[in-house]
Amino acid sequence: MRHPHTRTTRRRVVGALSAALLCTAGLAAPAAAGTATGSPAPAPAPAPAPADGLALTPPMGFNNWNSTHCGADFDESMVEGIADLFVAKGLKDAGYRYVNLDDCWALPSRDADGRLVPDPARFPHGIKAVADYVHAKGLKLGIYTSAGTKTCNEAGFPGALGHEYGDAQQFADWGVDYLKYDNCNNQGVDAKQRYLTMRDALRATGRPIVYSICEWGENKPWEWAADVGQLWRTTGDISDSWGSMLSILKQNLPLAPHAGPGHWNDPDMLEVGNGGMTDTEYRTHFSMWSMMAAPLLIGTDLRKASPATFDILDDKEVIAVDQDPLGKQGTVLSSAGGRWVVTKEMKDGSRAVALFNESGSPQRVATTATAAGLPDAPAYTLRDLWRHRSYNTAGTVSALVPAHGTVLVRVAVDRHWAANPPAVEPGLDGDRFVRPGGTAALTTSVTDLGRTPARRVSVALTGPRGWSVTATSRTGTSALPTGHALRTGWRVTAPAGTPEGSYDLAFRARYRSPAGVRAESTTTITLRVAEPPPAGGSYLSDLPWLSADNGWGPVERDTSNGETAAGDGHPLTVDGVVYAKGLGTHAPSQVDYYTGRACQKVTAEVGVDDEERADGSVSFEVWADGREVASTGVLTTDMAAQPLTADVTGAEVVSLVVTDGGNGITSDHGDWADARITC
Ligand code: GLA
Repeated sequence: MRHPHTRTTRRRVVGALSAALLCTAGLAAPAAAGTATGSPAPAPAPAPAPADGLALTPPMGFNNWNSTHCGADFDESMVEGIADLFVAKGLKDAGYRYVNLDDCWALPSRDADGRLVPDPARFPHGIKAVADYVHAKGLKLGIYTSAGTKTCNEAGFPGALGHEYGDAQQFADWGVDYLKYDNCNNQGVDAKQRYLTMRDALRATGRPIVYSICEWGENKPWEWAADVGQLWRTTGDISDSWGSMLSILKQNLPLAPHAGPGHWNDPDMLEVGNGGMTDTEYRTHFSMWSMMAAPLLIGTDLRKASPATFDILDDKEVIAVDQDPLGKQGTVLSSAGGRWVVTKEMKDGSRAVALFNESGSPQRVATTATAAGLPDAPAYTLRDLWRHRSYNTAGTVSALVPAHGTVLVRVAVDRHWAANPPAVEPGLDGDRFVRPGGTAALTTSVTDLGRTPARRVSVALTGPRGWSVTATSRTGTSALPTGHALRTGWRVTAPAGTPEGSYDLAFRARYRSPAGVRAESTTTITLRVAEPPPAGGSYLSDLPWLSADNGWGPVERDTSNGETAAGDGHPLTVDGVVYAKGLGTHAPSQVDYYTGRACQKVTAEVGVDDEERADGSVSFEVWADGREVASTGVLTTDMAAQPLTADVTGAEVVSLVVTDGGNGITSDHGDWADARITC
């Protein structure tokens, strides 16, 4: 079963257990002072040494959890293989240092002296040998345990609660440089007390060990942990999905004031390369983690990673945003309609600016250099951090950002701005959909954002093989002054029989700077080939969708959401009533259908599926072309299904949305039972 699901269960068990402990005199929760049974008795703790100088920039490295969990791949040869690749692939040069072991490295029982024992199947030469190996490469080793009686895995590996001083000393003796300290099986002992005890135990070893607090943001560590650990998790576990990444991003962004050198917000480890998101989405993940000065812990098995994954993880200009010595976490400048502008003040006075498009279709995302915090100036240098090109801008910072994409730039006041060609901004208007054999009308634009004119401008639009693309107005101009645009109309025909799906067209503008320097701007324009539903009534679960996003696992047709793989759900059941047809989702969820202005009505019976008996609470909404046309308010696990009817007359796209009811997404299995559309 998927991990957070088990953790939900586990938390309930822990809660019950600590309640039981409270009622049982004599069974006091273990003291977190490090002197409880089993811990090799420490001498009175020496005065804690300050952890000065640790993690002055966010830690960078690797952790096996997101790629292996406790699977058989997690062993000495993996860890050493990653260390080899850090060196061979230039990741060490890019700043990645820590090679970290997560849960399941130990045996379930301590030895007769109360010491932790590395699992001989995974680490036949012990942990010290692995530490020596990575140290010999100029890298550092991290390890994991829990601030509880056991770690999070069901197998019940030993936790450090009551063993803090002994375990910390054992880690230090092995040469460990980083400890991730989890929160499972904590017996209800106060979090601050548990995390402080381990801090003091680590300091008492005299070895500098980065201390990563992992209590999932449950006790607001950003309010008390700045002098406890160098980083603290702010959320529950990430998973390899767009919905999970996005929800964590939104929880971590508002915590910006609490981050700084030596005390970082940790929105969890990277999923880049694990396959559940597109490369565009992974670039957004990596861009936004860098903007948030988040720890950059690679979570994919680099031994199997694609060149595209290495390109993302190794982008030194993006990494420089994360690692900027000023140590400020970026803040949200604006957010509306899925268009996000996030800015980060940099030590050299420049600003990193992320133009992020959360929505499912391309959008213009825009700000200005002064809004981003720079002083007024005639022009600025604008550096594209993913494309590694420099331009000049008269002040506008904007881009046509693809669906789920991020354009990341660095803007600076710089005397040499005129040496760079002007920035130009591509734009797009018109149809987003085309039927097989049909023709879409598009208008492209290219606007000069620079202080200098763009000269000898020409544009081209290239469709997929077999498509016809014809310009219906001019495709070139001799000069575009600041703020002016070249607009071009296009007719784009998809061949008859083109299967439904997304098709990319390349839009390219070529131009020259006043000094004759050649420049170009290329953008991908995506058209969807789709047919509206047939006339009459249809079950939505029988129709193709445009997109389907879910908090956990895929959206299911005619079953509930089982949280992990396709087809792992159960019959749709709300309050004992079983439905043969419908969609099984998990909040936050959005399923989009192309309705081509041909439909009128959506109906469904909606509610939280019985498969989760805990604290499921969701709200169901129907949107027509970005306008909310129906919503239920919060529905919870114990409620019967509610009828829902939405008028979607004239809409091109209808979205079925399930949001978290306000208590987090745990158990939020939203069923659209009997969902139908009339066209
Ligand atoms: C918790 C943590 C995860 C991972 C697992 C290991 O869920 O939040 O990051 O360490 O435990 O069991």
